[in-house]
Amino acid sequence: MATTIAVLGGTGPEGGGLALRWAHAGHTVIIGSRDPARAQAAAEAINAKIGAERARGAENPVAAAEAEVVALTVPYAAHAATIESVRAACQGKIFIDVTVPLVPGKVTRVALPPGGSASLEAQALLGPEVRVVTAFQNISAEHLQELGHAVDCDVLVCGDDKASKTLVIELARDAGMVAFDAGPLANSVVPEGLTSVLIGLNIRHKVKSSGIKITGI
Ligand SMILES: NC(=O)c1ccc[n+]([C@@H]2O[C@H](COP(=O)([O-])OP(=O)(O)OC[C@H]3O[C@@H](n4cnc5c(N)ncnc54)[C@H](OP(=O)(O)O)[C@@H]3O)[C@@H](O)[C@H]2O)c1
Repeated sequence: MATTIAVLGGTGPEGGGLALRWAHAGHTVIIGSRDPARAQAAAEAINAKIGAERARGAENPVAAAEAEVVALTVPYAAHAATIESVRAACQGKIFIDVTVPLVPGKVTRVALPPGGSASLEAQALLGPEVRVVTAFQNISAEHLQELGHAVDCDVLVCGDDKASKTLVIELARDAGMVAFDAGPLANSVVPEGLTSVLIGLNIRHKVKSSGIKITGI
């Protein structure tokens, strides 16, 4: 079912790639940014690529307010401030956190933030009425930019609300990925940390988008 998805930080490669694939699949996408003009330019680039008017741009709080589902794709340094700016607009909604708590200069070393994980910090900041789900932290933006490119990495989906995880698994499928329910939000430390492992593999093997596959299912 088509939904309206705000992608906060969708001017960057990760959120922009997800937004492109969701818009291509028929969803309405609102690119969120600190700068509405930058958001609109990113949305128009998506519309040009898909040949349809399914994306528009807005400042982050406006994008969150106008969407049914909110995705966050900003660097960890901007995580708390961006969440604070949209907290009111997110109440009662599904919030997909893609943020990886990387430490600049030490991105190949797993580092967990003071709140235990980016996702637990997001839930604490947003409050209990927001259904936080985490996904896509292991999907390199390199996979997402070209619509025809097959994503060679599975998605681990963590959250405390089963129905919200089911919707995010469907959104991952719409974007061309295979996703699995990976348990409660507390488990999100694993995919968040796994990203540092994958970045290290990328460097050692001189590739841009190593990934993971769940086998045996
Ligand atoms: N890139 C990847 O391959 C990849 C893969 C997996 C997970 N991730 C995770 O996904 C998230 C986004 O990654 P990305 O590479 O797309 O990030 P990015 O390009 O560095 O940033 C994305 C957007 O966040 C906003 N932003 C940047 N710095 C900010 C600040 N100090 N305060 C407020 N907003 C700021 C900017 O939007 P505006 O300037 O328009 O506001 C920017 O376009 C990160 O947490 C990353 O770890 C990335």
